[in-house]
Amino acid sequence: MNDIFVKPLSNACGAEISGIDLTKPISPEVADIVNRSWLEHCVIVIRGQELSDIDQVKFAEAFGPVGNYLRPDTLRNDAMRERHQAVMFVSNIIENGEPIGTLPDGEMMFHTDTGYDQNPHKATTLYAIEIPSKGGNTIFSNQYSVYEALPEKLKNRLKGRKAHHAYEFGVMIKDKEKYDGPELRTAVHPIFRPHSETGRPTVYVNELMTESIEGLTDSESRDSLHEIFALQREKRFCYEHVWAKGDLVMWDNRCTLHARTDFSKKERRLLRRVTIEDSPRQ
Ligand SMILES: [Fe+2]
Repeated sequence: MNDIFVKPLSNACGAEISGIDLTKPISPEVADIVNRSWLEHCVIVIRGQELSDIDQVKFAEAFGPVGNYLRPDTLRNDAMRERHQAVMFVSNIIENGEPIGTLPDGEMMFHTDTGYDQNPHKATTLYAIEIPSKGGNTIFSNQYSVYEALPEKLKNRLKGRKAHHAYEFGVMIKDKEKYDGPELRTAVHPIFRPHSETGRPTVYVNELMTESIEGLTDSESRDSLHEIFALQREKRFCYEHVWAKGDLVMWDNRCTLHARTDFSKKERRLLRRVTIEDSPRQ
């Protein structure tokens, strides 16, 4: 076994793991090192990989059952239907007049993946196949740290409360107060949601998908959410990942949010996503 090194990437979150070749099956010992580093740093980066669809699915399966990529049928095309159920492409590339992936161009607000489901997937793995020369970075915000930094007054106001989450598929910047589209999935989650493995409290609201807080007036709900969203964007809680081809990044959706920076529509961007399910909560 090669030596495996774990190097933190920022004070907020993120660590690079080197010394692993993911085209080969990973042993339980290596999976354990990866899992522990991931739980500690919330985001892990493994660079220089050459991964097929199935390599990535197998890597993800070392940490739990892979999530099916369920999208409303109206938003799928033939190229998407032919793929492994767990695989989704994030891409702006058009082939034969049809997009080969979803979430194509430009900036994307902070969110957590599948937060619109009642049991969101615990992890996302994203593998870089084609990357623009500039931009399209992914910013991760640490929600353990945001929880710790919340003003006591706000924490007390929101303690024990739940928030409504919804997502209009394909939307990357929320510009409506409430979504009302037909392709809508919604869920309700505690605002301070304990992590299912570490047990630590996290802030589980985000500017793309969180609609409102139960039991507050519209203005109280909006003001509280905006106060949290501003904290989540602060640089001290964030690690910005600048992608290179061959990067495999795995993040914890239970304790981080992620956002995408803008990039030129003229450049190609293609990443492959496979998610991992969480164990059901009570
Ligand atoms: Fe995402």
